[in-house]
Amino acid sequence: MPKVTYALPDGTTHTLDVPCGQSVMDGSVRNNLPGIVAECGGSCSCATCHVFVDEGGACFDEPTDEERDLLEYAEGARPDSRLSCQLILSDACEHVRVTVPDTNG
Ligand code: FES
Repeated sequence: MPKVTYALPDGTTHTLDVPCGQSVMDGSVRNNLPGIVAECGGSCSCATCHVFVDEGGACFDEPTDEERDLLEYAEGARPDSRLSCQLILSDACEHVRVTVPDTNG
């Protein structure tokens, strides 16, 4: 099962097993980690699930135009920014590490 490490705004890191088919956002929300708010529930319309992908991002699909548009308005967006609800884990993902910015809420 893929492992996802979340580096949170409070400086803590949490590594979780997240099943294939779930998103990086799902893994955070289902385990009650703070930082990924996911206001829209994963329908790519709020950008409160913004993360920076530090490692392992190659296993994800490229961002859609919709995701790119939203990221343009996300506070503090960088080239490694993604919306975590769009990062669906698959067998190609062994270990992913993301940093959660403190600007999602
Ligand atoms: S949860 Fe709203 S865009 Fe990802």
